[in-house]
Amino acid sequence: MNLEVSDVNTQVILIKHPLDSAVFVRPGQALAAGSVVAFPTETVYGLGASAFLPDAVKEIFRLKGRPADNPLIVHLLSADDVGEVAESVPDTFWPLYEAFSPGPLTYVMPRRHDVPDEVTAGLSTVAVRFPSQPAARALLEAAGVPVVAPSANISGRPSPTRARHVLDDFAGRIPFLIDDGPCDVGVESTVIDLTSDPIRILRPGKITAKAILERTGIQVIPWQDQVKPEDITHPLSPGMKYRHYAPKARVVIVCPKADALIADAFLFDIEKDGGSIGLFLSEETWQALRGRLTSQSCNTDRGGRDEKMYDHLSLYTYEGGRDLTRATHHLFDALRTLDRQAVDTIYAEGFDGEEATAYMDRLSKAATVSGITCDT
Ligand code: TXA
Ligand code: MG
Repeated sequence: MNLEVSDVNTQVILIKHPLDSAVFVRPGQALAAGSVVAFPTETVYGLGASAFLPDAVKEIFRLKGRPADNPLIVHLLSADDVGEVAESVPDTFWPLYEAFSPGPLTYVMPRRHDVPDEVTAGLSTVAVRFPSQPAARALLEAAGVPVVAPSANISGRPSPTRARHVLDDFAGRIPFLIDDGPCDVGVESTVIDLTSDPIRILRPGKITAKAILERTGIQVIPWQDQVKPEDITHPLSPGMKYRHYAPKARVVIVCPKADALIADAFLFDIEKDGGSIGLFLSEETWQALRGRLTSQSCNTDRGGRDEKMYDHLSLYTYEGGRDLTRATHHLFDALRTLDRQAVDTIYAEGFDGEEATAYMDRLSKAATVSGITCDT
């Protein structure tokens, strides 16, 4: 990891709506000329560089402290541009593109030979995606070049879903950050390999195999059906072998047992914990848990352990009841926020089912010890 003394003035460009394309001219030109520009997408913030400028691409690896064998995703405006990086376009691309792009789906396909090796880490394939976030599109338009953009975090840290997170990792190290508020989805795009038959998911995201089947009739091998132990040492998607999303705190995933309430599962887990605790859960779950903690401290003579527990609790709640979409939207902000409060352990809500695969994947990767895991 390179933690050089701040030597760049990071210009934060705050986006107003409706978008004014003039705002994107300077960062777009800088990007095309070789500068690194951080920008929002519908999934997470990205650290952008011009895909055909190897030095700019190398700078991204240097800034992130990213292993050179982990390839980058090329961001394009539309399918009209795909020939700039892909040697050939598999037939399955078109119905998938119609159904899901622009949006949080990344396609791996045969690369053109002139795509720099720095982008593809020397693989014979290239990953492309078409972001839907309006500011990302305005920046691509202004830059007029294919843009590589890994998540804008130092390697190993939780991905950034707010401009603040990007500044936490890169203030004084990059020249431009485009701030258009929190990212909608909250976890990175689904990566699918179009060069395999059948197509397979290399990284789970919001778009699931089930959604792909329903919308296009195309059968895709789901993520959970193909992660074999050998993929950990020889992963299909190089990025999946690295530990990611890891806050400094220990992370435990809390899941309700059959028919039990999530608040009871939290109570069961945190009661045993003597350290400082961070909780990531819905507001309703917190209210239910608080009721239990309060009634326990009234009804027991355990010397105020539960009152003390209040002192040791840091909270991150999201609005309303238990909800996968909202939990996903807040996940990385919760991990970063609770980590700043230097808690020993973060207890985070888990979810079941295929829809929850991406959320559980990111949370499991953040878990430094085996927590209680849900069935996904
Ligand atoms: O949502 C996203 O995809 C975000 C935003 C900024 O677009 N970007 C992102 O990039 O998550 P990054 O670099 O953090 O993750 C890229 C993933 C890695 O797991 C990498 O190994 C995989 O895509 N990947 C890239 N090119 C690949 C290729 N040719 N074959 C297989 N996997 C590839
Ligand atoms: Mg990443």
